[in-house]
Amino acid sequence: MNKLALIVGASRGLGLGLTAELASRGWQVIATARDLAQADELQQLAATEASVTLESVDLNDAASLADLKRRLAGRLFDLVLLNAGVIGPDHQSVEEVTAADIGALMMINAIAPVHLARLLVPQVRSQTGIVAFMTSRMGSIADNLSGGSDLYRASKAALNSLTRSFAATAIGNRGLTVLSLHPGWVRTAMGGPAAPLDVQTSVRGVADVLEQQAGQQTHAFLDYQGKSIPW
Ligand SMILES: NC(=O)c1ccc[n+]([C@@H]2O[C@H](COP(=O)([O-])OP(=O)(O)OC[C@H]3O[C@@H](n4cnc5c(N)ncnc54)[C@H](OP(=O)(O)O)[C@@H]3O)[C@@H](O)[C@H]2O)c1
Repeated sequence: MNKLALIVGASRGLGLGLTAELASRGWQVIATARDLAQADELQQLAATEASVTLESVDLNDAASLADLKRRLAGRLFDLVLLNAGVIGPDHQSVEEVTAADIGALMMINAIAPVHLARLLVPQVRSQTGIVAFMTSRMGSIADNLSGGSDLYRASKAALNSLTRSFAATAIGNRGLTVLSLHPGWVRTAMGGPAAPLDVQTSVRGVADVLEQQAGQQTHAFLDYQGKSIPW
């Protein structure tokens, strides 16, 4: 039987690339976009790949998380991948940021992914299932010797902390594997044109890591080549 993945945030960039990559490896994929009407490339992929079906969810809208959970009732996932993320305000400055802007950044990058994972954890296959979060090396406190992108870094550090709390119960109760993944620095809308990696190289590596990690029943912080990143 084909494995089933849910990929949240698949309209473009890494989420779109991972949806295509997993489908090419024989997975069934339910891929989400905030607004399906705007997700042209994902719609084209679903039109040509019968194994890709579409859903919508907005991580900045708690009601939308509960609605998605209702629509996914009865599905059992081998992988739930929370990929969606935003960079936050251009200034990235604690002096300038508003409560509304930091609230939205924390909600989309840290709170909502873990909230949705908690809603869906009973529907992840016990023992071999994976819940993976697309974090960033920038979320590592140990690795931060330069600063820069301060608000984005803080949101991913918060994601990593919340993920550790999530893992503490998800691993013990259901034998799941929990992954905090760094995709590399990749040429997407977020990564920009100067990034050294193309989407294909990153998503091939991430898919290899996902397939290798099934059944580990630990929480690891790994890059797209499977290398550990310090917390
Ligand atoms: N690119 C890199 O170098 C890099 C490095 C480290 C980590 N990452 C992480 O990798 C993930 C994917 O990044 P990317 O480079 O592919 O970025 P991207 O091209 O900007 O794509 C971001 C994705 O997140 C979705 N999204 C944004 N806000 C959302 C919301 N409120 N609800 C639901 N979905 C939302 C976007 O959907 P819409 O199309 O609807 O906006 C889009 O599908 C992010 O978590 C990012 O932090 C990227």
